[in-house]
Amino acid sequence: MKVIKSSREIREWSRTQQQKGSSIGFVPTMGFLHKGHLSLVQKARALSDKVIVSIFINPTQFAPNEDLDNYPIDLEGDLEKCRAENVDVVFIPHKNEMYSDFHQTYVINQEIGQLLCGQTRPTHFRGVTTIVAKLFNLIDPDFAVFGQKDAQQSIIIKNMVRDLSYRTQIIIEPIVREEDGLAMSSRNKYLSPRQRKNALVLSQCLKFAENEFKRTGRDINNLEKEIKNRIGETPDCKVDYVEFVNEASLTKKFVPGDKVLLALAVFVGSTRLIDNTVLTY
Ligand code: PAF
Repeated sequence: MKVIKSSREIREWSRTQQQKGSSIGFVPTMGFLHKGHLSLVQKARALSDKVIVSIFINPTQFAPNEDLDNYPIDLEGDLEKCRAENVDVVFIPHKNEMYSDFHQTYVINQEIGQLLCGQTRPTHFRGVTTIVAKLFNLIDPDFAVFGQKDAQQSIIIKNMVRDLSYRTQIIIEPIVREEDGLAMSSRNKYLSPRQRKNALVLSQCLKFAENEFKRTGRDINNLEKEIKNRIGETPDCKVDYVEFVNEASLTKKFVPGDKVLLALAVFVGSTRLIDNTVLTY
């Protein structure tokens, strides 16, 4: 497995593989890899001749009051996990490699990026689209694999690929959960044992909504209220949002048969966790 740190070298490596006729699968990450990331790597491995994983804690997707400086890092562990998954290249650029001191150009999603997470994190998605566009420009992958846990991010990336004419096929893989239901996330590391236990309210509310949707139909307003109450009554937990939205548009417009995304963002202590499920209207 090769470790590449420079933009020039990753571009050259990717072009050489393409000239040889090899397809490239790409998994962008911010490191501190868990089984959720590894499921994305396995998908990329199954689809492509060569697999690149990037590890870059992207400063532009963090607001000044967020956890950029404390974001968990385990580079040695990440490299070991990538090696075990037969990854061909891990791209670990330094911040200066990706952003010059004069950086001033961003890729912005005009509408969807302002909904859901965009309400509390108004600059987050422009950071995500900008870094993913830069990585796609360097690597030009055939496939790029993202996780359904970041459902809004996945939709925004698909929109970016369509709108800016990237040739990369975007693959979305299911959420990977701990045995007790907690969605895997690098940020789970911040939780104390008590918060970790209380954080189960997210997956429990999603299960509850899935059952209620089947049992009673589509009473979204009542379900939304009930879920907010359940989370609000759980110690350490504060609702950021609980939203039922159209999975394709993220709007509140549904017709029977549409896929409905139930998306949650909850502060557990000071850690903001997200989770979601998809229901049929
Ligand atoms: O999902 C993530 O970890 C990040 O948002 C991504 C896609 C690697 C961009 O920094």
